[in-house]
This record gives sequence, structure tokens and C-alpha cells, in this order.
Amino acid sequence: MKRSELNQIQRNALKLAARFSFALPPFVTWTMEDWQTKNSEYDEIKENMLGWDITDFGSGDFHKCGLLMITLRNGNFNNPKYAKTYAEKILISEEGQVTPYHFHWKKMEDIINRGGGTLVLKCYNSGEQGEMLDTPVTVYRDGRAYVVDAGSRIELSVGESITLPVGQYHTFWAEGGPCLIGEVSKTNDDNVDNRFYEDIGRFPEIEEDEPILYPLFSEYPNMPG
Ligand SMILES: [Fe+2]
Repeated sequence: MKRSELNQIQRNALKLAARFSFALPPFVTWTMEDWQTKNSEYDEIKENMLGWDITDFGSGDFHKCGLLMITLRNGNFNNPKYAKTYAEKILISEEGQVTPYHFHWKKMEDIINRGGGTLVLKCYNSGEQGEMLDTPVTVYRDGRAYVVDAGSRIELSVGESITLPVGQYHTFWAEGGPCLIGEVSKTNDDNVDNRFYEDIGRFPEIEEDEPILYPLFSEYPNMPG
């Protein structure tokens, strides 16, 4: 992805969050210059991968296959300094922008439609070799548990949510307008916890064609350790 594209995606994301009155923590809009002034008091942001995470999943077309995430809080499996066992993200899915099928090895997550269009998901159970099964899928949403055929459309209106158990394949996109999506989950390590159905990239290659607006979580200067 080009840096100019990432910068524009970040500007659009801030506008969408503001449209739905979702206020973000200060570190989200710190520039590289701001980061240079931050001392070790802020190590948690760097060590637990808080902040911007934008990916096209290696597709080359972010608007067709991609996702914007901002990690607001997270624990850390590898660092006993952090007792936190939970995480929260805010995501944006554009209309027709698909997050491809994947499941998580450790992270159980709730996906919440916090504003915008309809959030559409499809889910499959996974087998021992990572295959998709055609067995019925139990859907857990807002206090209701029910069973659907594998791969059925599941539509979440604004305010509705779904709980995705470990090992359950899911894909999602927005219809009728972009969705501001909440994610409440167990501690998350995106370096090792994602099992995509197809072999695709989780983090983008970046072509630097203009200065960084806000660094991604992997780009903070003076990373500890
Ligand atoms: Fe997921």
C-alpha cells in the first residue's frame, strides 16, 4: 500500500468515528514528532500493539479486500508485566470491503455494529486440518443462541453484536454504508493468532510516497526491547 493511501484512510477513519461520536484516545492522533517526545511511560502502547493497524491482506486493493483497525487496549501473552486479559478495537468496514475468512486460535471476540450500515457476516466451523466444515453453526448474538446452516448470511444492524468462538471461520463486510465496528475480545496477538483460510498477508508492504501522518503500531520510533 502507498503511504498516501494510508494517510487518506486514516483521515477518513477519524471523520467516520466523529460522525458516530466515538471519541478516540490521545495516542491515535500522535504524529511521529509527538512520538519522539514520549518516554518509557508510554511503553504499553508500543509493547501491546495499541494504535493503527491498516491492512489490505496483501490484496493490492484495500477498498475491496481490507480492514482498518485501531487497537484501543490489549494485554500481552509474552510479557508478565501486563495483567490485562482483554482487548478492545474499533474497526471500519467500508461498503463491500471484505475481511477474508479467518479464525483465531486463542482470541474469542465480540463484533459489534456501532454505527453506519448493516454488518454482514458468514461463519463456518473449522476442522482439525483447518478445513471449513459444512456442519451447522451456532450463532451467539446479544443473548440469543441459535443454529444456522454453514455460511448463512448473518446481518447485524446498528447496536447488534455477535460472539465468535475460537476456531470459527468468519468473514464480514458492510452493506448500505460503511460500518463503525467495535471489537471486544480476549487479549490478542495478531502476529500469531490469525488463521486465514487462504494464504494471505496480514500486514501490508508500504511504499513511502509521502510523510507519515500517524504511524501504524509497528512504526513507533524507539520501540522498547
Ligand atoms: Fe476475527
